[in-house]
Amino acid sequence: MAYARDDIDKVRERTDLAELAAEVTKVKRSGRSVMAVCPFHNEKTPSLSIDPARGLYHCFGCGKSGDVFSWVEETQGVDFTGALELLARRAGITLTQSPGEAKRRTRREALVAAVADAVAFYMERLKAAPDAATARSYLRGRGYDGEVVDRFALGYAPGEWDALAAHLRQAGHRDDVIIAAGLGSRSRRGSLIDRFRGRIMFPIYDLRGDPVGFGARLLEGDGPKYLNSPETPIYHKSRLLYGLNWAKSEIVRSAEAVVVEGYTDVIAFHLAERPVAVATCGTALVDEHLDLLRRFTERIVLAFDADAAGTGAALRGFDKAVPGELDLRVGVLPEGRDPADLVRDGEIDVLRKAIAESVPLLQFRIEQDLGGYDLNEPEARGRAAAAAAKLIALHPVGVVRHEYAVMVSRRTGVDLAVVERAVDGALPSGRRTAPAEERRRLSGLERAERELLRLVLANDPSIRSLDLDADLFSDDAHRTGFGKVAPAILALPPGTPPDLGSLLADDTSPIISLLSELALEDRPLADAGDVVTKLRVGRIDERIEELRRRLEGLDPNGQPQEYSGTFEELIALERERRALRERHE
Ligand code: UTP
Ligand code: MN
Repeated sequence: MAYARDDIDKVRERTDLAELAAEVTKVKRSGRSVMAVCPFHNEKTPSLSIDPARGLYHCFGCGKSGDVFSWVEETQGVDFTGALELLARRAGITLTQSPGEAKRRTRREALVAAVADAVAFYMERLKAAPDAATARSYLRGRGYDGEVVDRFALGYAPGEWDALAAHLRQAGHRDDVIIAAGLGSRSRRGSLIDRFRGRIMFPIYDLRGDPVGFGARLLEGDGPKYLNSPETPIYHKSRLLYGLNWAKSEIVRSAEAVVVEGYTDVIAFHLAERPVAVATCGTALVDEHLDLLRRFTERIVLAFDADAAGTGAALRGFDKAVPGELDLRVGVLPEGRDPADLVRDGEIDVLRKAIAESVPLLQFRIEQDLGGYDLNEPEARGRAAAAAAKLIALHPVGVVRHEYAVMVSRRTGVDLAVVERAVDGALPSGRRTAPAEERRRLSGLERAERELLRLVLANDPSIRSLDLDADLFSDDAHRTGFGKVAPAILALPPGTPPDLGSLLADDTSPIISLLSELALEDRPLADAGDVVTKLRVGRIDERIEELRRRLEGLDPNGQPQEYSGTFEELIALERERRALRERHE
């Protein structure tokens, strides 16, 4: 460990997990017990239990658990060191650092420091430089005052070839850092030149609030209208949403996020006093973006103008996201107007209305589809219903599919039963109503237990290094079978085939016939290490399940000792399970 144990403990003691959790999710306190909406899986009612006294959490829904550090690791996407530093900063504790660690961390910090200095440089230029007059009047024209410039740290990249590079060098940043941070590149002649020139700069921050890159709008001259940072070790466009760092707490509070097209639209929502908007950074919205948003709210409104929504471009590739785990909605803006336009033109009401009247994404798509058919013709009605059925089938929840079927039936006049049948036919096979009779299949653990018995019966050398005992088996028959043959077989030299004939003779119990069957199976043997790991993990799974049930029955106020004890045991087991899995990978 690179930091002193004492430091780590101090940070842990000074961090209130309930408070920390409240920054990213809904937290409910009642007396000493604290419950939160789990940010690690999608849910509406809180099932994450927090023990503030010890700084531990456990989710009854998805099983995630840990302490204040793992909380930050998971919710902020940082490693342990990152979490420790963040919490130390928050608690006003100065960490004592070892030199090895310092080296490892410098890369990220160096990159962030270079971007941060670039942010300051561009801002300074925007505010003071004579050559930024056009930029200033452009921003004024958009209705941005000094407060907006400060809040979003807007800047101006001058038109010279290397204004930033020269400045950063002077400030002590190395060339390779400037390049790796996506701020500059080598020209063919070998000199360092700026990536952004003659542009309005929109700094992009990650969730921790560190500046990691830029979106940049061309002001004059040639080139693409918007240019973004390239992928760098700190800038991953599919894992960043512009504005989320400013919007996250308001998103949690208002239980809604709005996804808009660009930087100026995010700022527009801020001007409209609804700071819940985020935008992708010059890329399409992908599942990873939704995963990011899902930590803060399940209701996500995509605000598109009627054009974009109409052509469907904005929604293409979205089938995966349709399923109901998120309440994904569409708020349609007037044709050809984006939020930035509406706010600039004083039409905040129109914007608010579009968001307030958002409809589920699936409903929107179905309505759009139906709109394309002439429903006066029987044939078109049939085709419309069939097309709609395909969309309905995307929804994972049966009741919801039914509701949509009713809607489509009403709209098209096609009989409900017919629509329902079409939906059913379009379902992926796994989702169709399961046939009632289900053959009893062996569970994964049962299969693993049998596999281990086969290894023992073969006296496979690989079983010797493992610590085998009957407790690995949870099935009674398997355990008894192991007890019957293992002592004799393990007494043989490794690899010597046991005389199964005599070992299994003079016994006709069902266990013996199972063993003979197993011994005769002629599939290749699995790896003994894998099998034993699987069984150990399985045993731990069972104990975790048991503790979880016990914990649910405990009252944290009435039985605080027992509650915390169980909690800790649970977490220790989950840690053990993780270690087992990792060690074996
Ligand atoms: P606009 O084209 O409306 O940009 O795109 P704008 O700066 O508002 O320009 P004008 O004044 O209307 O012509 C809106 C948002 O879409 C993103 C930007 O974030 C911009 O704020 N965008 C647009 C890009 O990321 N790349 C582009 O090439 C265009
Ligand atoms: Mn615009």
